[in-house]
Amino acid sequence: MKLLRRTILALATTSLAAPLALAQSAPKLKVGLMLPYTGTYAALGNAIENGFRLYVAEQGGKLGGREIEYFKVDDESAPPKATDNVNKLIKRDQVDVLIGTVHSGVAMAMAKAAKDSGTILIVPNAGAGAITGTMCAPNIFRSSFTMWQSAYAMGDVAAKKGHKTAVTITWKYAAGEESVNGFKEAFEKGGGKVVKQLTLPFPNEEFQALLTEIAASKPDAVYTFFAGAGAVKFVKDYAASGLKKSIPLYGAGFLTDGTLEAQGAAADGLTTTLHYADNLETKRDKEFRLSYAKSYKLQPDVYAVQGYDAAQMLGIGLNAVKGDVSKKTEFAAALEKARIDSPRGAFTISKSHNPVQDIYLRQVTGKENTFAGIATKALADPGRGCKM
Ligand code: PHB
Repeated sequence: MKLLRRTILALATTSLAAPLALAQSAPKLKVGLMLPYTGTYAALGNAIENGFRLYVAEQGGKLGGREIEYFKVDDESAPPKATDNVNKLIKRDQVDVLIGTVHSGVAMAMAKAAKDSGTILIVPNAGAGAITGTMCAPNIFRSSFTMWQSAYAMGDVAAKKGHKTAVTITWKYAAGEESVNGFKEAFEKGGGKVVKQLTLPFPNEEFQALLTEIAASKPDAVYTFFAGAGAVKFVKDYAASGLKKSIPLYGAGFLTDGTLEAQGAAADGLTTTLHYADNLETKRDKEFRLSYAKSYKLQPDVYAVQGYDAAQMLGIGLNAVKGDVSKKTEFAAALEKARIDSPRGAFTISKSHNPVQDIYLRQVTGKENTFAGIATKALADPGRGCKM
């Protein structure tokens, strides 16, 4: 009798203890968000975080069966501080996954640290080709784009419009240079000629002298990469200088994304190319936009979409490994064969881990980047120099 009672008691304790042990065996997944929360790209960083958190919330706060714990660093879009900043997340906080960042120079330092430490990195914006090119790695992914993708599409559009000469203007760093080069490649292939390439240091906003140079060159068109607060100032200055009336301004769509409220009439009518637009009118996008607006009392932009999709990608990888981030090969294999159901439209991931996606032609009408057609269908970055 005594023995029986003891057995029953033992059984009861094990069956009670089992769920507890299970819960303890899946500690929270540590996600390190390294984004700009200050400076010219601050709004972009916030939108990415909002998008990421929205997807996680829609999944009940868990990805791959694990609750998420966030660690945050403001990278200030400052490349000199990037290695120290990313090591705060990798070494001090010992995060399982890195999400970041906006600025290409900072993201390249993150990619190096991720490659060296083996930490999974999902880049939710920065477009430098090297991240999914020469620096590519099995544990590095991008939910966004390469600079080349939207720029090449715009060069093609500008040449087809019949423009023969163009001046480019951008910040002098990887993102700006690669954007301008992508435009030039397609524009010159289509019979145009880039006659002058103007630059200023990041994040300088003193555009006046360069606008005077554009006026003197009288090109058929101007192509630009600016984003965030710098894009707001550039579009306003371009209109105020009177150039908008005489020389059409084209851009990678970052020029008018998340910025229209501040740019006002100065942005009206501008034509850009990007992998997102404000009125795609798909069920998926409508639901996303409604859910984002409800949560944040803000309209989403391309950065919010990229943050949301970084979380989706993380979820796909984690589901395949049942939350075990140490299974890097299976994690990558799941993403390489995935079709990501993005608000931008479904996309796949190339061998070098960059989205293969449609690039849209958009035109600003009022406060929206209105869809005006597909500029290039399922555009894949060539991933030059990637060996995995
Ligand atoms: C980049 O530095 O890669 C970058 C920054 C802002 C953008 C796009 C690209 O909107």
